[in-house]
Amino acid sequence: MVKTAVLASGSGSNFENLVLASRDGRASKYSIELLIVDKLSAYAVERAERLGIICYSLNPKAFPSKADYEQEVVRILSENEIEVVALAGYMRIIAETFLSAYKGKIVNIHPAYLPEFPGKDGIGDAFKAGAEHTGVTIHYVDEGVDTGEIIYQERLKIEKDWDLDKLKEEVHKMEHKIYPMTLEKICQKMREEI
Ligand code: GRF
Repeated sequence: MVKTAVLASGSGSNFENLVLASRDGRASKYSIELLIVDKLSAYAVERAERLGIICYSLNPKAFPSKADYEQEVVRILSENEIEVVALAGYMRIIAETFLSAYKGKIVNIHPAYLPEFPGKDGIGDAFKAGAEHTGVTIHYVDEGVDTGEIIYQERLKIEKDWDLDKLKEEVHKMEHKIYPMTLEKICQKMREEI
């Protein structure tokens, strides 16, 4: 199994779903070894506790620089022999220190059909724009914001009678379907390449 870490800043529903998928048979190629949050108040912390997953809570402001903060993230990951990093609602741009240590091994899930609606509020932006379709994208992380190579994406039709809450619900449903499935494929491929 490919040792995987999740990084989150908020609710952590994708984190929990990735863990559950690895336990209920939907996925068997990865194991979620740990969670890192950049906010102690993140609800993901409670989920980790409930799931029995070790959680590291870091305060980026407590480090002299972003590079120092990322060095600590990388130290935790290396110490735990993490091979793949899955970002799930992690609200920070990944910089050189982290990227170079985990080149091609960091994936992110974005709640829109990239390159449409990148940025912090992919769901709200698609809704406000009155788009007929949106979607979910899983991509490798590079130095840009939601610009890395796309691994998998799926389209979602926005029905006329949907409000923003309904759209959020449908996007999350799609995320919970495709993130474990895609991570599974990535990890399978990694093992085949060895
Ligand atoms: C998800 O919509 C994800 O696509 C985006 O942030 C949200 C995180 O949700 N990057 P959750 O914390 O996993 O519930």
